[in-house]
Amino acid sequence: MTRKVNIAVIGTGRMGSVHVANLVRQIPAANLTAICDIRLEVAQAVADNLGIQRVVKDYHELLADPSIEAVLIATSTDTHAMIIKDAAAAGKHIFCEKPLALDLKDIDDALAVVNQSKVKLQVGFNRRFDKSFQRVHQIVASGEIGRPCMVHVISRDPESPSIEYLRTSGGMFLDMTIHDFDMVRFQVGEVEELYVMGNVLITPEIREFGDLDTTIVSLKFANGAVGTIDNSRQAVYGYDQRLEVLCSDGAAIANNEVETTITKGDRGGFHSAKLPHFFMQRYASCYVEEVRQFVECVQEDKPTPVTGRDGLMAVVLGQAAWKSFREKRPVKISEFDRV
Ligand SMILES: NC(=O)c1ccc[n+]([C@@H]2O[C@H](COP(=O)([O-])OP(=O)(O)OC[C@H]3O[C@@H](n4cnc5c(N)ncnc54)[C@H](O)[C@@H]3O)[C@@H](O)[C@H]2O)c1
Repeated sequence: MTRKVNIAVIGTGRMGSVHVANLVRQIPAANLTAICDIRLEVAQAVADNLGIQRVVKDYHELLADPSIEAVLIATSTDTHAMIIKDAAAAGKHIFCEKPLALDLKDIDDALAVVNQSKVKLQVGFNRRFDKSFQRVHQIVASGEIGRPCMVHVISRDPESPSIEYLRTSGGMFLDMTIHDFDMVRFQVGEVEELYVMGNVLITPEIREFGDLDTTIVSLKFANGAVGTIDNSRQAVYGYDQRLEVLCSDGAAIANNEVETTITKGDRGGFHSAKLPHFFMQRYASCYVEEVRQFVECVQEDKPTPVTGRDGLMAVVLGQAAWKSFREKRPVKISEFDRV
């Protein structure tokens, strides 16, 4: 059997604890040797639950351990760039949750160290690993239905996160739309220009720090295609995740996934299965698959499926969207000098 990859997880909060459990239970090619959180008690609880022996508070301890080949970073966003730089300098391969950082200069600096150190980096754009979105990608990329002309993404959360979370999240475009920016790049290619309209219709308190909860992003791609991303922080019927790519000779459409396809009819009308509640339910298998593929890339010395550049460009698009909203005009991506 091929050797196992020794990996450690840094940050064991909401997302990190899911990755830890997946590594232990569902990714046999990985050997999770240690976990780390500045809140030691949080990491200890995760470790106790899953029988993990080594728990540390300071990630530098893990970086100094030559037996650890790779780290998975699931700390709060403001620490990603710093930990990536330290991990790359220590020669560790890196899986990092999205976004790489909110500031482009921080991302540039972190990617420079990654490139110099020649370590692998994969960014946690989990939706690329969804079987329906993958299939749409294969159909469009194969050219079997012609060239892409239009893309529509509908991505609506069931409920808004807490104000505390939103305050430091980077706002709608860098926290939420960032997944959809990556998705449209994955499906159609590089974006050339975008224009944003948005409003606060759900949570009035977010006006205080200039955030939005209801937005439409119009996109023009370098290959001439056009598109929209429709986001809302509140869709009371559940987590609404749809995608359509219209091509010159057909269309590829991914509808919402539901538990069953049954429709029940009664005197009240027709009723169908509920949508998954939120991302943890809808994308559970993607969180396993993205890390499984990362481990395989380390094991077999292959390039990762979601690169540092993918991580950078999604943030560029998020920054462009904020610029478009604030300056009330279409923004060319070339204004950011990262194309
Ligand atoms: N891909 C997705 O679908 C998805 C979903 C949710 C969150 N995320 C991303 O995952 C990251 C974590 O989000 P979360 O919701 O799990 O947050 P969280 O606050 O629940 O967890 C973050 C953890 O990191 C720890 N931490 C902070 N600084 C640290 C450091 N220097 N060293 C070690 N531990 C440190 C915190 O104590 C906390 O336990 C964010 O970047 C977020 O954007 C991605």
